[in-house]
Amino acid sequence: MEIVIVPDAAAGGALIAAAIADLLTRKPDALLGVATGSTPLPIYQALAERVRDTGLDVARARICQLDEYVGLPKGHPESYRSVVLREVVEPLGLTESSFMGPDGSADDIAAACEAYDQALAQAGGVDLQLLGIGTDGHIGFNEPCSSLASRTRIKTLTERTRVDNARFFDSLDEVPHHVITQGIGTILDARHLVLLATGEGKADAVAATVEGPLSALVPASALQLHRHATVVVDEAAASGLK
Ligand code: F6R
Repeated sequence: MEIVIVPDAAAGGALIAAAIADLLTRKPDALLGVATGSTPLPIYQALAERVRDTGLDVARARICQLDEYVGLPKGHPESYRSVVLREVVEPLGLTESSFMGPDGSADDIAAACEAYDQALAQAGGVDLQLLGIGTDGHIGFNEPCSSLASRTRIKTLTERTRVDNARFFDSLDEVPHHVITQGIGTILDARHLVLLATGEGKADAVAATVEGPLSALVPASALQLHRHATVVVDEAAASGLK
């Protein structure tokens, strides 16, 4: 695992956007796995700026989701499909055809999860997976005690994660209780994992991920198993490291 400490979130976003630009130069049809939430927004802004300023051709890039709420209608502004379209796909000048995600409104959620794992494999696997981290150490929505070998499946959000995510909704009651998330095993299949963590609130989770033992209690510690995992942290998020 490589750890990169940057001064702030903007520097982390710029660094990771540069790595994505590099990947797309080498492999124009790369499959980029994206996370939602607040942390990766500086990456998406920096990448869109790069595309605008340098003329980097991203027309063949493919984008895939890490997770999705269960029960929100597809067009709901806070469904992760809508968020990824708004924050990543449209700013890069791509269309829905270059984008895939699990169907959180499917009647048969188990079948939708299996279909998504198959779709990722058929697409040749994820080249670079962006990750954030929850204050409880989750990646995707693999909450503590998730199996380190898990595949895409339905999970129940902890109360802590629902409270953390309530800022995107009008009230806590509106935050769904369930999500479809790529499993930890699914995430580990990606060729390169890049986790960005910013702010003091993530310091304990980052320290446990990087310096703690491999443990299902800290799902992000599974990155220790991956041969190419990069953890980018700002100084505040790095403040718990020894
Ligand atoms: C969302 C996701 C989550 C978030 C995590 C941190 O797609 O995968 O693991 O990355 O909950 O969220 P923020 O960045 O909002 O603190």
